[in-house]
Amino acid sequence: MDARPTSILHRTPWTPPIAIATDGVYIDLEDGRRVIDGIGGAAVACVGGNHPKVVKALKDQIDRMSYVYNMQLSSQPAEELAKLLVDTSDGAFEQVAFLSGGSEAMEAVIKTSRQYYVEVGQPKRTNYIARQLSFHGNTLSTLSLAYHPGRRAPYAAILDYQNFHHVSPAYAKRFQKPDETEERYVERLRQELEDKFIELGPETVIGFVAETVVGATTGVVSAPKGYFNAMKSVCDKYGALFMLDEVMCGMGRMGTMHAWQSLGDGAAPDLQAVAKGLGGGRVYAAIGAVLISPKVAKGIRGSSGLLKHGHTYQANPLACAASLAVQKVIIEENLVVQCRENGIHMIALLKDRLQSPNALAAPYTFDVRGAGAFFGVEFDFSNLEARRVDMKDQQFAMVVQARCLENGLVVIGMVGGSSLDGSKGDNLMLGPAYNATTEEIEKIVDIFVKSIEEVLTENFA
Ligand SMILES: Cc1ncc(COP(=O)(O)O)c(C=O)c1O
Repeated sequence: MDARPTSILHRTPWTPPIAIATDGVYIDLEDGRRVIDGIGGAAVACVGGNHPKVVKALKDQIDRMSYVYNMQLSSQPAEELAKLLVDTSDGAFEQVAFLSGGSEAMEAVIKTSRQYYVEVGQPKRTNYIARQLSFHGNTLSTLSLAYHPGRRAPYAAILDYQNFHHVSPAYAKRFQKPDETEERYVERLRQELEDKFIELGPETVIGFVAETVVGATTGVVSAPKGYFNAMKSVCDKYGALFMLDEVMCGMGRMGTMHAWQSLGDGAAPDLQAVAKGLGGGRVYAAIGAVLISPKVAKGIRGSSGLLKHGHTYQANPLACAASLAVQKVIIEENLVVQCRENGIHMIALLKDRLQSPNALAAPYTFDVRGAGAFFGVEFDFSNLEARRVDMKDQQFAMVVQARCLENGLVVIGMVGGSSLDGSKGDNLMLGPAYNATTEEIEKIVDIFVKSIEEVLTENFA
């Protein structure tokens, strides 16, 4: 890979190429190449490139006012964006707190839920229950809350094991037993959550936290039907909160504004984190938010009446103006519907090209899943009847990610998301802009499949 000198301590084992401009779904690199973005950065970009309305909103806001501090002053774009998020939630949410990204939003979910119980006079509640193979962010508390063995490993000794607890993922393709119906699988998971409440003492539990669709660990895995209703029923039974992390899968990406509306049994959460798609134009806004249900809003209103948690840049007018413009574009251009329709085409293409009987990758393609503008493809090489693939200690998903980039496509590869100990897993994620054209979607699938086939062919033993 590129060995150019750099003073940045990068997050990749290789030195990433330099991007100099974006245009729609395309990114221009300093070395003269133009690549197509098949995952919107990290499932961020949703309204395509440099949308003129978003660019204008941001420029206008810079000319007017770039910053005020949220403990002294509010701003028009922040107020308008919050109102829009509440008004479009069909009553699910009553208030909003802004943050500057996904981890901050999840940190705020953790702290706001604790604040709620302190304020409603239940200070003994100190325990959170989340799921194995989840991801909720990269701060210490969000790593403690989540459970991806690889990402936790270097910090395992300094994580919080006292307040954060875990139950099984809802990942039927890997963990539903062969003789188990979907209903019985859901009941097993519901019982496990209830048992965990009882083990901890139900009066000590703050709540259950889950990604509605698991993103950056297992690769776009939605839960079986009935699962979220079942988990919410346990929270309700013991007076605890039901909290969803829609940082990656929310704000339209699954083809509905909130993923729980289509893939979460319609089970509205008490608190919800959103981020990436909230500000996701190619004109980027570092923004996240906690969406607060009437129940939690009422509890806090009845006591301190204010958010006790905060950061310097939260609710800053620039991020809110960009985000507000993105949300207006999504509404005015009916992009959630377009995203839903695009998704039907994209999943059919992926299934056909990777799983049809004569597809080269079919014996190794364990699953193709997703909807809207969010797809996961999971590979598995344990099929003994298939021709052997010898990756010579390299990880297939990461080699495919690199090959896609060489072939002009940005995707995300992930490893360690298919087994509880993190030792297995070759997943890749795709997520085009909601308004990608049919031609762009077909191009993304073409390069993706070509890259997979190249890597397979080169590594047949
Ligand atoms: C579900 C989920 N929660 C939280 C985060 C953390 O967001 P950020 O990277 O903006 O801190 C991510 C990031 O990928 C995520 O997918």
